[in-house]
Amino acid sequence: RPVVVDSVAALRAQIRDWRRDGLRVAMVPTMGALHDGHISLVRIALERADRCVVSIFVNPTQFAPTEDLDKYPRQLAHDLDRLGMARADLAFTPTVGEMYPAGFATRISVGGPSAGLESDFRPTFFDGVATVVAKLFLQATPDCAIFGEKDYQQLCVVRQLCRDLDLPVEIIGAPTIRDAHGLAMSSRNAYLGEAELKIARQFNVILRKTATDLAAGADQGDATGRTSRALIAAGFREVDYVEARESLTLAPWRHDRDGRLLAAAWLGKTRLIDNVDVPSA
Ligand code: PAJ
Repeated sequence: RPVVVDSVAALRAQIRDWRRDGLRVAMVPTMGALHDGHISLVRIALERADRCVVSIFVNPTQFAPTEDLDKYPRQLAHDLDRLGMARADLAFTPTVGEMYPAGFATRISVGGPSAGLESDFRPTFFDGVATVVAKLFLQATPDCAIFGEKDYQQLCVVRQLCRDLDLPVEIIGAPTIRDAHGLAMSSRNAYLGEAELKIARQFNVILRKTATDLAAGADQGDATGRTSRALIAAGFREVDYVEARESLTLAPWRHDRDGRLLAAAWLGKTRLIDNVDVPSA
């Protein structure tokens, strides 16, 4: 098992020791309930650095009052076992009080790639993510940090955050890990029943078909409209968005640019997101 610290002071002390020895430090921020997707980030971290610190913190500032903060899966013992097997060096498991002591009053708001998509449905989400990621980076001062493409817009927002605030952390994007049926691994998949799981596995299949159509020149409005209808026909309850964006900046997509097709849809009470590459013509 990794060394576990729950205070910023203990985190800094450990990292100071590593730095004194000239070691390069990578960070993997998570909210726990670790699965193979998270573990793949640890593997990449250890290829890029000498030591890997994984934070496990279910960050209340990125959940809206109506969202699943209280029922979000928490399983620390299991997570530490998995981190041990993955050879992560340090787990940082702060309490809410350690991260947000009474009187905490600052929020970081990132523009640019945060506009639209998730923000249309979770308007305070990226402010919460940016605030906690900035804190984690200032607490741990890692050389690099690994974020999954699973949360593609989040990855773009974190890159923008570091660029704009001169946070000296290299952001490394990591490919989405999927189950044998193409379903992106997610802590929220634990909410799905057997029948819902079968429907969820159609999500990526449908998006890949749309990406192929777009790459072949299909009109964007037609293709995304068809995609929404296909998702509903497959059994999704509601589609929040299906949209192609320019892959680096998340600006509106044109056929001659590398794109990303991003989507969010509801399966019963569970909200799933996924995204796939759209090659340029
Ligand atoms: P969480 O959902 O726990 O995800 C932690 C990291 O794991 C993110 O970078 C996410 O993109 C990555 N990840 C999740 N599923 C993945 C998959 N199937 N394949 C590859 N990577 C995957 O994202 C968050 O936590 C939070 O918003 C956080 C950044 C920790 C801030 O609170």
